[in-house]
Amino acid sequence: MLSKKHLLGIEGMPIPEINDLLDRADYFANRPKQSFPDILSNTTVLNMFFENSTRTRVSFEIAAKRLGASVLNISVNGSSVKKGETLIDTATTLNAMRPDILVARHHASGAPLLLSQHVDAAVINAGDGRHEHPTQALLDALTIKRSLGRIAGLKIAICGDINNSRVARSNLYLLSALGAEVRLVSPATLVSPYFAEMGVPIYTDMEQGIAGCEIVMMLRLQTERMEGREAPSQHEYFHLFGLDTHKLQKAAPDALIMHPGPMNRGVEIDSKIADDNSKSLIRTQVELGVATRMACLEAVAGAKL
Ligand code: NCD
Repeated sequence: MLSKKHLLGIEGMPIPEINDLLDRADYFANRPKQSFPDILSNTTVLNMFFENSTRTRVSFEIAAKRLGASVLNISVNGSSVKKGETLIDTATTLNAMRPDILVARHHASGAPLLLSQHVDAAVINAGDGRHEHPTQALLDALTIKRSLGRIAGLKIAICGDINNSRVARSNLYLLSALGAEVRLVSPATLVSPYFAEMGVPIYTDMEQGIAGCEIVMMLRLQTERMEGREAPSQHEYFHLFGLDTHKLQKAAPDALIMHPGPMNRGVEIDSKIADDNSKSLIRTQVELGVATRMACLEAVAGAKL
């Protein structure tokens, strides 16, 4: 069970709670065909996605259904948000319908926190602006644990557009808390000095950054959150920071590759690597997303049987 009602971020989350969620997600992952209709029976889950999403929204929906919940998807295009309703008005309206769990994705950092202050439901952050994406970090940690048997002591490089990535932030908190040696690899314009002040090693050279790493996690250039010309041209970016067979030779001999998706092939990652199932964990990440979100939904519902 979680000590807080909502799951808004990994920062500050007690390590035993993280481990409990990972253990429970592992349990569900070992039973991929099984449903658990009693766990969230009589529970209504509302998916509110104010930003595009394929894998996160769908995996929350499948996870909730496997636990026996009723699921409603609010599409922003068809909602009053397009008519100018504020987030708080929307939250208050939806609250009146008494959902038990609200899964929210929003372009503004802090929006799920704001929602949690105006609804009775438990809120799960499904990605807010540049801030956090806690369920992605949990599924990434589960993927690493199931693939390599541990997280502590691993050298993990998170590479790409760090500043605009909520995935990078949540993973940095989570993987460091579990004892990994996390480093960031990024063009200087896409990694703020804040990370160096936190004591995280920063590399602006890709080959040096991934040297000896057992896990190389790639990120998309999130141009929708960029304000100016922080990123070089896609061609130049691929040349300097795109993961290809040549650069990958610098990593540990059996290094594994991760990416939260959506991928931009030929920009941050070469297709040859992305599609090589002996190296790429990308499909496994998507698969484990369902089990991880089952564990998270169950935990916020406080419904562990
Ligand atoms: C990420 C996100 O939305 O933050 N995607 C995801 O949830 N799988 C990463 C991204 O959009 O690049």
